[in-house]
This record gives sequence, structure tokens and C-alpha cells, in this order.
Amino acid sequence: MVERSLVGCQAVGGPPEASGGWPLLGHIVPIQRSPLGFLPGLAKYGAVVKIGFGTLPVYVVAHPDAVRDVLVPGDIDYKRGLCFERLKPGLGEGIATASVDEHRRLRTLLQPVFSRERLVEYSTIMRTAAEEAVQKWHDGEVVQADEAMDDLALTALTRSLFRFTATEETAEAIKHGMRELTRTLKETSAGGLAIPADAEMIYSPYLLHHDARWFPDPQRFDPDRWLPENAAKLPKNAYIPFAAGAYQCIGKIFATTELAMMTAVICAKWRAELTPGTEVREVASALITGLGPV
Ligand code: HEM
Repeated sequence: MVERSLVGCQAVGGPPEASGGWPLLGHIVPIQRSPLGFLPGLAKYGAVVKIGFGTLPVYVVAHPDAVRDVLVPGDIDYKRGLCFERLKPGLGEGIATASVDEHRRLRTLLQPVFSRERLVEYSTIMRTAAEEAVQKWHDGEVVQADEAMDDLALTALTRSLFRFTATEETAEAIKHGMRELTRTLKETSAGGLAIPADAEMIYSPYLLHHDARWFPDPQRFDPDRWLPENAAKLPKNAYIPFAAGAYQCIGKIFATTELAMMTAVICAKWRAELTPGTEVREVASALITGLGPV
């Protein structure tokens, strides 16, 4: 394992601890009471903030600069944290649980599957899958949107990727993709703060993406945030739905092409309305899963 030298580190103090912790339980109580209220509230403490998962101290990355420090060196001074050790038996061996060298090998193995030429072919497959799905709907039908989108995404994925590549190893490598808890190998710094060795670090896309400093009125649906002139003002690593650095999502262009293609096909034929009486609300959940049968 390669380790980053500490030469040049200028961290002065350690991260502050978030208030509201309980003896022995740490911040489990406020997290359980309101996970989506608790997380964005952490940004006010600074670039990194310490919370307790029970008695285990966990350092939460809460600023784009600290995201860069933790994620962008990627394969050097962090290893997969406690969460992955616990989950490994369930996840099995795959790109998400691989060692640094094995990860690099699997990434290289997967790269051709996501080449520009392949993506052009996949976009035709995605369009056909979406057209077939929307033709089955009829006027006035109630469609469970999340399930319909999951089905459609899985159809497009299996028809695209596994048509070309069904070697067992590639399929296994694609199966797992989640790494949001990481552990420092030695004392280091993030966002200018000193992080001790062997510290569990976590980043939450929800926290980062609801930071009112970069996303004013963060709960508001405002697609204009993504107009080029507005997006250009965002600090680097403020918006990281596909992570960043060496472990970032290899399927990023695949996924964004698919999203655009499906939205275009659906909106060309249908106008969706919310079923009367439906309440739309946020739900906190974590997803660590394979991509289905491969
Ligand atoms: C909107 C859809 C998607 C989102 C938001 C997403 C997000 C992510 C994120 C955040 C990671 C990094 C996890 C970490 O911190 O290690 C990741 C990794 C990964 N994703 Fe995705 N992903 C999406 C779609 C896809 C698709 C469609 C594929 C395959 C076709 C895919 C394949 C992978 C793989 C193989 C990895 C592991 C990469 C590595 O460890 O080097 N993802 N994804």
C-alpha cells in the first residue's frame, strides 16, 4: 500500500465535535430522530466535524476542500473503513471491496466497457428500452414511478453492458459500487484540520448537496442551478453524486446519458401528474447492493 508523505501538511488543530452527543450513544439519537435535519446542520462546524457512532468517533467531511483532500488522493493514504470490513462478507469480492492494486486492475479491465464508442451504441439500446416501456402505459394509468424507473434502468443496463462483455470477472467488477466510509492509515489533514491515524471518515452527499453556501434554498427544486453560468460558480467537489478521485463512479456518463435519454423519451409521449393525495417527502436510506442478476 502506498502512503502519502506528511511533508507539507499545515493542519493546526483537530476538528470540533458536534453538539448534541449522548453518553455512550454519541450522536445516534439525533441521527435517528432526524437524519436529514442532522446532517446539513454539521456544515456550520467547519470543514470536518467529529461525531460519535456510539463510542466510535467518526469524522464527517463537510466542505468541498476536505472532500478533495480525502477523495482525490483516492488510493493513497486511506483504506476502506469499518463499514466495508463489516459488509465485505455480504458484498463479496468486487471492485468496491478490492485492495488498492486489485482495484486499479479491475478499473483498467472495466474501462473499455465505458468507452465513448460503446456509449454511442448503448444510447440506442437505452432509447429502444425506454420506447418499449412507455408504449405499454395507457392514458390515466397510475405508474409507480420509482419501480418503473428501476425496471427500465436495469433493462437498459443488462441489454447494454452484458451484451458485449459477459466475462464473469467484468460482471463481478461492475456489481458493487459504494465507498462512503473510509479510514486514515496515518495522521493526515483534511480541509486544514488534523485527522488522527486510524480515524473513520465519512462523507454524505446529502450534507454536501444541501449546503446553503453553494445551493441557496437547498430544498427548492431549481433546475436553473445547473445552467452553465450558475454551475460554473460552484466550488470544485461541491456536487459529487458520482464521488470523486480514483474511486469515482465508472458508470457516470452511462448513467447521465440514460437519465437524459429516458426523460426525453417519456416526455415526448406522456405528461406525468402526481396522483391526488400523494405527499412527496424525503426519505433517508442507504443503498449497498449489487446491480441485480448479471
Ligand atoms: C445515477 C446513477 C449512479 C450514481 C448516483 C452512482 C454513484 C456512484 C458513486 C457515488 C460511486 C462511488 C462510491 C465510492 O465512494 O466508492 C460509484 C461507484 C461505482 N459505480 Fe456508480 N452510480 C450510478 C450509476 C452507475 C451505473 C449505471 C453503473 C454501471 C453501469 C455504475 C457502476 C459503478 C462502479 C463499477 C463503481 C465502482 C467504481 C470503483 O470503485 O472504481 N454506477 N457510483
